[in-house]
Amino acid sequence: LQRFLIDTDTAGDDVTSILFGLLWPNSRVEAITICAGNLDLEQCSENALYTLEVAGKAGIPVYPGASKPLVGKLVTAAYVHGEDGMGNSFFPKAKQRPESLFAPAAIVELANRYAGELQIIAQAPLTNLALALAQDPTLPQKVKKLWIMGGTNNALGNITPAAEFNFYVDPEAAQIVLQAGFDVVLSPWDLSVSDGLLTQEELEPILSLDTPLSRFYLAVNRVAWEFNRSHPGGGGLNGITHPDSLTMAMALQPELIRESRRHYVDVECRGERTRGYSLVDRLGIMGQPANAEVVLRADKLAFREMLIKLLGH
Ligand code: BDR
Ligand code: CA
Repeated sequence: LQRFLIDTDTAGDDVTSILFGLLWPNSRVEAITICAGNLDLEQCSENALYTLEVAGKAGIPVYPGASKPLVGKLVTAAYVHGEDGMGNSFFPKAKQRPESLFAPAAIVELANRYAGELQIIAQAPLTNLALALAQDPTLPQKVKKLWIMGGTNNALGNITPAAEFNFYVDPEAAQIVLQAGFDVVLSPWDLSVSDGLLTQEELEPILSLDTPLSRFYLAVNRVAWEFNRSHPGGGGLNGITHPDSLTMAMALQPELIRESRRHYVDVECRGERTRGYSLVDRLGIMGQPANAEVVLRADKLAFREMLIKLLGH
């Protein structure tokens, strides 16, 4: 059994990642914690609650956390994922309501309850985790592995030329979390373009599944697909990228990781044009010990097989 906590700004591909956690054999999601990012805290919480309902997993607790980054203003991405973050589907409100405990406190509590066992999937700005660390600096010793979707390996930014969205929204939090001593696997944006993008053609087997879950997946991702095709930030990609769900899939099936390297990774918090840039010291020039395993290549075909299995339910 693999125990997970998913920290998410639920919109678009966050949803698919949550579905993997909820429905994959031998996976148990102990909690979902919410951070403002793609949208405000309330909408991201509603999207997570609705996803639980669709998956038939209502009852798993959803804890809202940070409503803004540690420093500065919240930047959102409704222009990528739709006004509701769910491809403008405007789903009804789920029956289950969010918990009252603050997400960072929930992270600390669960890390203690499942010390040495809990894996965290961080697929949002890292604000909740930075706040959890402030509450309990020994957190890195208790968490089994921290999977971070964020940053870039080669400066292929998606919100600025230099920065990936999750790190850009809260660079200070990203820096604190990377330096804290967690056993980190970093799944950078470049990877979701090289190995996590499914083109229209590659999506065919999913489009033809026509199950409730595959229809849900397509509805949630349709605005992002159009964005990818038509907006410079989307890179002119005719398809759906899977940054969060590829990260979750690698946690579920580590054989998906084809190539990874341990590096020292830091985050630029000040740069005039490079705020949020993840600095990967590939040559070890800084002489700092590695703090992350950076994933360079993943098995795209195996990932797609997993997705077909998930959505074919
Ligand atoms: C990240 O930003 C969000 O929009 C995605 O869900 C992913 O976590 C990619 O930069
Ligand atoms: Ca996300």
